[in-house]
Amino acid sequence: MASGRQLSFVLAFCWLNALLAGLGLATTAAASTTDDGEPILHSEIGRQNNQSLLWGPYRPNLYFGVRPRIPKSLMTGLMWGKIESYTDFQHTVRYTCEQNEGMKGYGWEEYDPRRGGIQTIHDIQNGLDLTTSFVKVPGGAHGGSWAARIKGVLNEDAPKDQKTIVAFYVTQEGDDSELQALKGEDDNGYEGDVTLKGHSESLGNYKLVVTKGEGIQPKSDHDISTIRGPGQTVVQSLTYPEEQIWQAKPILFRQLKEGVDWLVENKYDVQDPPPPWQVYMLTNRPGAGNVHIVQKVFEGDFEFDVIFSSESAGKELTSADLSREIKETTESFGERFSSVFAPKAPFNADKFKKFGRSMFSNLIGGIGYFYGQSVVDRSYAPEYDEENEGFWEETAEARARNQQALEGPYELFTSIPSRPFFPRGFLWDEGFHLLPIADWDIDLTLEIVKSWFNLMDEDGWIGREQILGAEARSKVPGEFQTQYPHYANPPTLFLVIDAFVEKLRKTNGSLPAGREHLSQDDASLATASLDNPEVGLEYLRRLYPLLQRQFNWFRRTQAGDIKSYEREARSSKEGYRWRGRTTTHCLTSGLDDYPRPQPPHPGELHVDLLSWVGAMAKSLANIGDALGLAQDVDTYNKILTAVEHNLDDLHWSARDGCYCDATIDDFEENKLVCHKGYISLFPFLTGLLKADSPRLGKLLQLMGDEDELWSPHGLRSLSKADEFYGTAENYWRSPVWININYLAIVQLYNVATQDGPHKETARDLYSRLRRNIVDTVYQSWEETGFAWEQYNPETGKGQRTQHFTGWTSLVVKIMAMEDLEGPGQQRVRDEL
Ligand SMILES: *[C@@H]1O[C@H](CO)[C@@H](O)[C@H](O)[C@H]1NC(C)=O
Ligand SMILES: *[C@@H]1O[C@H](CO)[C@@H](O)[C@H](O)[C@H]1NC(C)=O
Repeated sequence: MASGRQLSFVLAFCWLNALLAGLGLATTAAASTTDDGEPILHSEIGRQNNQSLLWGPYRPNLYFGVRPRIPKSLMTGLMWGKIESYTDFQHTVRYTCEQNEGMKGYGWEEYDPRRGGIQTIHDIQNGLDLTTSFVKVPGGAHGGSWAARIKGVLNEDAPKDQKTIVAFYVTQEGDDSELQALKGEDDNGYEGDVTLKGHSESLGNYKLVVTKGEGIQPKSDHDISTIRGPGQTVVQSLTYPEEQIWQAKPILFRQLKEGVDWLVENKYDVQDPPPPWQVYMLTNRPGAGNVHIVQKVFEGDFEFDVIFSSESAGKELTSADLSREIKETTESFGERFSSVFAPKAPFNADKFKKFGRSMFSNLIGGIGYFYGQSVVDRSYAPEYDEENEGFWEETAEARARNQQALEGPYELFTSIPSRPFFPRGFLWDEGFHLLPIADWDIDLTLEIVKSWFNLMDEDGWIGREQILGAEARSKVPGEFQTQYPHYANPPTLFLVIDAFVEKLRKTNGSLPAGREHLSQDDASLATASLDNPEVGLEYLRRLYPLLQRQFNWFRRTQAGDIKSYEREARSSKEGYRWRGRTTTHCLTSGLDDYPRPQPPHPGELHVDLLSWVGAMAKSLANIGDALGLAQDVDTYNKILTAVEHNLDDLHWSARDGCYCDATIDDFEENKLVCHKGYISLFPFLTGLLKADSPRLGKLLQLMGDEDELWSPHGLRSLSKADEFYGTAENYWRSPVWININYLAIVQLYNVATQDGPHKETARDLYSRLRRNIVDTVYQSWEETGFAWEQYNPETGKGQRTQHFTGWTSLVVKIMAMEDLEGPGQQRVRDEL
C-alpha cells in the first residue's frame, strides 16, 4: 500500500518537473516605458467612464480573473480542483479556459461591465458547479471597490465527502507597489478571514479580504496536522521576477512540490502518508511579496467571498454588501436586457430570452484588457510588395529569414472571439463584437474603438491579431505570432462608427428634457456620449483623422493594378488586392481558405476588398457630414461612386449572375473567376447595392437557391454547386458563419422595408433566414451548452471552436430585429 502511494508521488514529480522547466524558459525583457495612448475624451465623462470601467474580469483567458485596466497592477485568478488521490490535482486543477476539460458549459449568465454579473461553470469532471458572482461598487478616486462570491455545489453523483482544493492567486506588479498578507492568530494558518493590504500609485491604498466562508474543512489526525493545520486557510507570500508571475499554475505547483519534498525527506511517504488533500496543502507563510496564494480545502459544498476595498472609496465592503449588490445587479440586468434586446416574434418565448442573456453576457463578459509586447516584422523586404509572379514563394522565403522583433509594450481593451481558443484581440472580429455591445453601452464601445485605434502606426496599419505579452503568446504557435505591416484585415470597426453616428443622429435634439446633463449613475454613463451630443461629436472629431489614415493606408498598400492590363473600368484607381495570399489561403481577407483565382497573380483583384474600401468611403462621408465637413463629404462620395462603378465594371459577371474576383489569364487578359458564395455577395453585404440595383435580383436568387447558398441552417459560405464545396480544410467552403449571415439579414431587411422591385422576395428571405439562424444557434446551445465558431450546413450542428461567444452572439441583435413575417403576409393578402 505504502509503496503504491510512493509511486504516485514519483509520477507527480515527473510532471511537476516538466512544468517547472517551462517556468525557467519564459522570460521577456521587462518593459521600461508604458504607453497609455492619448486620451480622447478629456472631459469629465471620460474620467468617469475610466473610473466606472476600471475593474472587471478582464482576464477572459481565465475561468475567473479580475484585474484593472492598468498596465502593471493587481491581478487575481481562481484555481480549483478535486483531490481524492495523490495524482488527482495535476489533472483536475482548473485555471485557464480550455476546450478539453470536459466542461458542460460555462460562462456568464448575466453581465454588465458597469456593475458585474454571475457566471456558472459546469465542471463535471470535478463533480461540481462553480458560481462566481462579481460586483463593482463605485466611489473614491481609484476606480471603486469590488467583490466576488465563489460558490461550489457538488453534483448529485459526486461523493458527499469529496475534497476540493481552491486557491486564489493574487499578484501585484509595478515599481512603487507593495502587497502584504497579514499574519493570522495561528502560525500554521487562519481560522477566520485572510487580509492582504496593498498600495500602488494608481490604486492607492487597498485591502483584499478572502473570507472564511462556509463549508466543511476536512479533518485529519495525522501527525503533521500540528504544522499543516486542517480546518484552516493557508497563505504563501512569495517574490518572483515580474515576467514570471503570470504563470500561476507552475508557481503553485513549485510551491506544492516544496511541501511534498519535505514530506519525503521526513519519510512520511513510506511510513504513514497523510491523506492526499493534506499532502497538497501549502505551508503557511504569509508576508510581503508580489505573489500570494490563498489556499483552502473543502469537503462537500463551499462558499467564500473575495472583497477588494479601495481606501479612497470610504467604507469597506462586507459580505452583506455583496449579497445585496448581487441581488440588485441581477435585477437591473434583467430589466435593461428586456428593454435593450427584447426578442421579437417568433423569438418572444422565455427560452430565447435565457439564451439571449447568456449569449450577450458571454460576449460582453469576455471583454479583456491586455498589455505587453507584440511580435512584428518591419523588415519591409521588397518581396513583401508581392509584385512578381510566384510572389508567394518569395514572401515565404523572406518570412523565413525571421526578421521579426518585439515591439511595444502596447495596451488593448477589447472583446475576444473565444475564451479558451482565441483569448486576444482580432481586428476583423471586433467590429462584429461591438455591434451588440454598442446597443448596451455606447461609451464602453467607444473606449474599445479608441483602444484599437491607439494601436495604429504612423502609416495607418493595425495588426490583425493582437498577441500582447507572454501570457497571450503562450496560446499561439510560434509561426502565427508575427504580424506584418503590409497585411490588412477587413476594417469592421467602421461598421461600429456607423452605428454610433446613426445613434447620434437619432438622439440629437430628441432627448427628453433634463436628460442632457451628466449624472453619476452607471446606466447614464453607458449613453453619456449620446445624451451629450457635443461629447459624441468631439469623440468623432478626434477619431476622424485616424479613420482617414487607415483608409489611405488601405488604398495605398492594397492597391490593385488596373492600368497594366487594359481593363475597362470607369475608374482607373478603384481596384484592390489583398496582400498575403498563398496558393491555399488568403488569411488577410478573413475568409481564409475561400477559393480564389489559381495560381495567385499580382494582377488579381478582389471583390470583397473593393467592397470594404467602398464601405469605408461611405462611412467617412457619413462622419464628415455629421462633422459639417462638406468638402470631405464630396471627396469621399466621389470615391464611393468610383467604387460602385468599378464593382460592376471589374467584378460583375453577367454570365454567372454574381460578383467575382478577377485575375489575369495565360494570354495576359483580364478574366473573372467565379466561386459562388459569400464573396459573390460582398457589395450587397457591405450595403453598397441600392434597393433598385439591376444586379440585386440575381443575388437574391443565388442566396435563396437550395442548390447553391441556401440551407435550413443559414447561408453556406460556398455554393453547394462549387467544385471546392466542402473540400480540404473546409473552413470557409461550406460552413455557415453568423457574422456574414448577420450582414445579409440586415441588408435583406433594408430591401424589404423600402419600395423596390425586390421588396417581397427580400421580405421572404429575411424572415426565413432570421428564423433559421436563430434556431440553429439555439439548438446547438441547448444541446451542448456552448456557442460555436460555425455551423454545419447539412446538420446544423455547431463545430470547430467551442465557446465561440464572439460574433456568434450577433443572434441577440437578430432576435431583436423587427418581425416582418406576420404583417408581411398580411400585406401580401391585402394587395391581392
Ligand atoms: C484611469 O483610472 C486609473 C485609476 O484611477 C488611473 O490610474 C488612470 O490613469 C486613468 N486613466 C485615464 C486615461 O484617465
Ligand atoms: C444635430 O442637430 C443640429 C441642429 O439641428 C445639427 O446642426 C447637427 O448637424 C446635428 N448633428 C448630427 C450628428 O446629426
